[in-house]
Amino acid sequence: MTVFITGATGFIGRHVCASLTRHNHAVIAMLRDADSQLDTLRQQVDRLGGQGQLIRAVSGDLDQPTLGLDQPLPTLDAIIHLGARFAWQLDNEMARRTNVTGSLAVAELAHQQQCRLVFISGFMLENHAHLNRLGIDLENASRTHWPQVYRRAGGYEASKLEAAFRVREFATHHELDLVEVQPATVAGHSKSGELDDSQPLYSLLDNLARGRMALVPGTRAHWLPLVAVDHLAEIIRLGATIATVPGKLLALDANTPNLQPMLAQAAVHMGKRAPNHHIPLPVLAALLRIPGLPALMNTYPEALHFIQPTRFDTTTTEAFLQQHRLVAPNMTTVIKASTLRYQQQYDTPLSP
Ligand SMILES: NC(=O)c1ccc[n+]([C@@H]2O[C@H](COP(=O)([O-])OP(=O)(O)OC[C@H]3O[C@@H](n4cnc5c(N)ncnc54)[C@H](OP(=O)(O)O)[C@@H]3O)[C@@H](O)[C@H]2O)c1
Repeated sequence: MTVFITGATGFIGRHVCASLTRHNHAVIAMLRDADSQLDTLRQQVDRLGGQGQLIRAVSGDLDQPTLGLDQPLPTLDAIIHLGARFAWQLDNEMARRTNVTGSLAVAELAHQQQCRLVFISGFMLENHAHLNRLGIDLENASRTHWPQVYRRAGGYEASKLEAAFRVREFATHHELDLVEVQPATVAGHSKSGELDDSQPLYSLLDNLARGRMALVPGTRAHWLPLVAVDHLAEIIRLGATIATVPGKLLALDANTPNLQPMLAQAAVHMGKRAPNHHIPLPVLAALLRIPGLPALMNTYPEALHFIQPTRFDTTTTEAFLQQHRLVAPNMTTVIKASTLRYQQQYDTPLSP
């Protein structure tokens, strides 16, 4: 198959490229700076066990009208849309332009190509109580007052949520073959533990290692659901290449420990003591409104939304994965690998 992908150079994207090319699919990566990014991407994909030579690049940018594509595309079998502005405290307009308008441009491309669109949203789309609290109208999303959602959730999360609802609406109107993959917070590679330093789990491990976590956010019931990056990449590959796929794939390991035991596991591998007492999320969020504190604590109020007590129904996804003999790696192993890799990279020695 020929698969077009945005966000190929990102943490998830390069693992998806490795998985696709390992299975002999041809990949067309839309890159902002194709001349300088393609060689590095191919090398990374080779290192991850894929076939870098099966990737070719086209120049394009989610911020440009019609993606600024610089050449006609061949017939595509699927488009995987991973590209996004992914950071806390994003300017709302910038977040909207890349994550919402950009996603709709990618959906339009899938419509022109009459091919499947695999859209990467996030697991919080399945936390309906949270969506209600943010002010999203689940009965009729077009009635949502989005500026309020941006105020409550911040630019990144709000733009990802808006993009998901608008892409769903586009798909319904245009009878687009849409598969939405909803990843939990992404953990490192299940064997190597590879985890980019821009990833939220990396920040959590870094805070633990540097003694910035005296208290555990939330209560004993709170958790931060995880999925290993290599497992997620396989789910996305299946979502793009298998003929019959559920419309939504919730990529979340229901066996992820709650936050305190997860921190305790990581702390053991760091030779540190894990925090045992909790701080209620509203108290922490109020503290983080003090100017300068988020940067000092390396924690942003928006990130706290992803720590919650809600449990999710993963039965549809699990049945699909079982059908295709894809087994999730053991989460204890994933947490250990991610922590050891973190240690290897940055523990030498830790600056205060
Ligand atoms: N990581 C998680 O925990 C997580 C969880 C749920 C959902 N997701 C979603 O998964 C997707 C990928 O996440 P990630 O962790 O791999 O992110 P990442 O490492 O930050 O990668 C982001 C990718 O998007 C590209 N990009 C950014 N702005 C662009 C633009 N204007 N035009 C074209 N490409 C652009 C980047 O390209 P450059 O290399 O050129 O910057 C990069 O390839 C995102 O949609 C994110 O919302 C992630």
